[in-house]
Order: sequence, then C-alpha cells, then structure tokens
Amino acid sequence: MGDLKGITEKLDYLQSLGIELIWICPVYCSPFIDQGYDVSDYYHIDPVFGCNEDMYELIHESKKRGIYIVMDLVVNHCSDQHIWFQNAMKDPYGKYGKYFYIREEVNGNAPCNWRSYFGENAWSKLPGHDNLYYLHLFAKQQPDINWENPEVREELYKMIQWWFDKGISGFRIDAAAFIKKTMPFEILPADREDGFCTYEIPPTCNDGLHEYLQEMKKRTFEANDAFTVGEVVSFEEEDLEKYISDDGCMSSIFDFSLYMIGKQGEDFDGFYSHKQPTANEFRDALLRSSRLSFNVGFLSNFIENHDLPRAASHFIPEKDISEISKKMLAGLNLMQYGLPFLYQGQEIGMENLSFSSADEIVDIGSHMEYTLALEKGLCEEEALKKIQEYSRDNTRSPMQWDKTENAGFTKAAPWMRINPNYMKINVAEQEAREDSLLNFYKKLILLRKNPEYKETLVYGKETSFLEKEDNFVGFFRKDKNKKILVMANFQRKGKFFQLPEGEKKVLINNYSEPVNLETNVIQMRGYQLLILDIK
Ligand code: GLC
Repeated sequence: MGDLKGITEKLDYLQSLGIELIWICPVYCSPFIDQGYDVSDYYHIDPVFGCNEDMYELIHESKKRGIYIVMDLVVNHCSDQHIWFQNAMKDPYGKYGKYFYIREEVNGNAPCNWRSYFGENAWSKLPGHDNLYYLHLFAKQQPDINWENPEVREELYKMIQWWFDKGISGFRIDAAAFIKKTMPFEILPADREDGFCTYEIPPTCNDGLHEYLQEMKKRTFEANDAFTVGEVVSFEEEDLEKYISDDGCMSSIFDFSLYMIGKQGEDFDGFYSHKQPTANEFRDALLRSSRLSFNVGFLSNFIENHDLPRAASHFIPEKDISEISKKMLAGLNLMQYGLPFLYQGQEIGMENLSFSSADEIVDIGSHMEYTLALEKGLCEEEALKKIQEYSRDNTRSPMQWDKTENAGFTKAAPWMRINPNYMKINVAEQEAREDSLLNFYKKLILLRKNPEYKETLVYGKETSFLEKEDNFVGFFRKDKNKKILVMANFQRKGKFFQLPEGEKKVLINNYSEPVNLETNVIQMRGYQLLILDIK
C-alpha cells in the first residue's frame, strides 16, 4: 500500500536526495473512496498504512535526519462514514446535522445547481430523509463540513493541535479555499448542457474565507510555529497577500499556474479538460508567478502531484521525452523563485501510466469522467483516451525502486498497477549511474543549499532574460552579491543565443559535453538547460 513503515525505511534515501520536508497525503482512517481524502477518523492512522505508533516513529526518525513531517489537512469535507455524518443522518435537525450543509429540497429539487468537482450533482439526498439534501463539492461520500458552525471549527482546531502535540511540523491544507461557501445557496447560470454550474470560488463571493483561515492560523498554526501550504487553485492577484504575506493565513500556497494553462476559456469542459502547454506558455506562467509573489512571499512550485499527470508526459511532446528534457524541467522547477516541491518518482523521471481498459482505472475522478464521457456519446476507446492523459492514476502508480518483482515496492500484490517501464526507470539503476536524472536532482538541490548560492537562489529576485525568444525560458536570480542565469532551450532543435556580458562559470549543464563560453554567443542544444554564475 505504501505504508508509514515504508517511508521510514526510505528516509536515508530521501535524506540523500537532499529534501528537508515530507508532505504525506492523507493517512487517516478512511474508506478510500477518494484515496484517503475522505477521512472517517482524524485521530487514527488507517490500518493499511500502519498505526499511530508508526507515525510517531516516522516523526522521530525524520527529525533525526533533519526532515520535517507535514500531514494533509482535509477539513473541507470528511467521509460519510465519519461518526459526525453518521449522527447527522440519524438526527439531521440535531447537533450533528449542523456539522454539515443539510437543506430541505426546493420545489422537489436540490437547493441549487452546483456541480461537484468530479462532475455530478453537488447535492445528494440525505439517506433516510427524502426531503433533505446535503452538500458535497467532491464525491457524494465526502460531505462538506459546515464551517459556519463555530462548534465544528473548535473540533477541528482541537484535532489539529492534537497532531502538533505528536510532533508534526505542519499541514498541507486540502481544498483550502472551499471551506467558506457563498451563502445563501443560489442557482447559478448553467455552464454546460447538464444544467449545472461548477462551483468556483469567485473571490468576490467568498467573503469571509480569510476570516476562517486567519482564525485557524491564530488558534493552531501560529503557536506551533507550523509550516502550512494551501491547495489554492485560483485566486485574485490582490488576494495573494492575504494568503502568503507575513500576516497571511499560511506559509505558502501551491502555484497552480502551469496547470491552469488550458483550464480556462471556451474549450474548458471540466476537471479533465486540458491541453499540453507550449514552451512559451510555460515560460509566461513561471515569470508571472515570480513577479506576482516576489514582494509578497513564497509560492510553492511543483510540476507534479497526486492529482496531475507526470511532468515529462504533460509538458514535453512525446517524441522528445528523455532524461535531457526531464533534467531541463527539473532545473526550472528548482531554480524558480519559491519553495520547490517534488512528487515521489519525479526525481527518477517516472512517466504516465497507460490503461488498456476501463477496468484498470482506480481513481474515482477518472471513473466518473469516463462514465460522463460515455454518456456524452464517446465510444469506450475515445472515452479511455480522453481520461488517459489527465487521469490521477498517472502519478499514483507505485514508486519504482529497482528491477525486481513489482519494482521492489512490495512482495505482495500492490494496491495499484506498477508502470511496466520500471525495468528501465528505477532508483537502483539511477543511483548507480553518475549522469542519471536522480543524480541531477541531487546536484540541483545541493546547489540550492550551497552556502555560496543559497541566499541568491532562495531570496534573490527573478528577472526575465530574452523573454521574447520563442521556446526559451530564461531568468536571472539576483541579489547584491550574485547573479545567476538560468536558460532552457525548450524545444527539440538547437539554437544560438546571445549571452549577457560578464565572466561566466557553468554551475549546471544537462549535457555532458562542456559548453564554450569564450564568445558571447552560445549554441544551445535541444532541451538544454544551463545555469551560469555571472560576474
Ligand atoms: C484535493 C486533493 C484531491 C482530492 C480533493 C478532495 O484536490 O488533492 O486528491 O480528491 O482535494 O479532497
């Protein structure tokens, strides 16, 4: 399953990679309708991952290695198996009924026409009560918790403190911007033929969100000097300060802008709607984020997570996927202003997992999208193709440790299929090979920590370089002592570029052949990444 003891066992590996913090997706008790994002008991580790003692051991062993543990905080909703919801079903008008958004039907219908993130009606009938509905912005087994109720907020703060007392260092806050709903519930203009409207968080409508987030910070995070990173997929620029400035409600929020490419506009028809970003779009998104956040705080940068495709498969045209192009992405991920996060297996360049039939789908979101695609009239093959590229299973396949059975992940049957490419892509092979992607990640992380460059790479301002060049990502990281130039030729073909004046030293190059810096014109090869120190 990928349990806690398994993480503890691999701490030396993680330490050798150079990471300093581990965010663990939810490991609380759960019926696993949404892979643990449906928590049925916040105080206990689900037996499939081990027990609470295993968590304490992991915290302890991590600390010894200078690694912090950050848990997932899933408090927008819980599981329908949680005792609160069980009680709410028994007595919807009693104490626990007020822990959720339970409403009477309106003219025989749900209170409003919001669509859940997995594509269906966000309101379901409360079992046993034909005239009542409850709200769930995700699956129907994930009822939304009523943050308007101070009593429920107190319960959540108590639980958060309980985990701090056990030694965790912070939280990744799931669906952070959803905890405050636009009230009263209103019918919104339908955005698709199904008559529903995806509940976005129009910043003008979520007045009150930051009061809740601030309250949670004051009551829990602040006193524990916690690190917090929010899952906030979109926000108004002027609101960034409310999230990540010194007075903001969190230490950081994830920067989703690379993934927002293709998520807006007329073609957008739901979670699975996507397109492969172009190199220019990638560049524009990176530069925009650093401009936006520089004087405010740190965004958290990522190119992969458990909800999105593998980065190489998503950002690089299929025929160009190689260790070279993966190294280029690694460099951009780690040199960009902000806090870099890596997703397990990214450091060895794991790729999307392909399906040969719908029976192989594990993720609830992919299942629902598949069904919706069939309902829309797509044939099975087309429907499978539609979800393939963006399915959350792509990144969830087990870590590929070595060439042995099940990629060394388990001797039992793994909870999910192993990507068949594990014979080629695995940790053991890359540890043994000097020029591997894994060793490249280590070099980049070491560079970020190198006393000579660390200040500049963490705090230095980011300014663009050759911003008008097509298929090129270039930026300086600069402070009063140092100037570092990051250049990526984001395309298959080689190209000449004019370098800035000054004495240069190559810090990182994803090709083994040395570059000639004698003249100020440089020929960069396909997907070449260079990091230069410029005097
Ligand atoms: C977040 C999680 C995702 C989950 C959803 C509902 O987006 O990252 O995996 O399905 O919240 O909890």
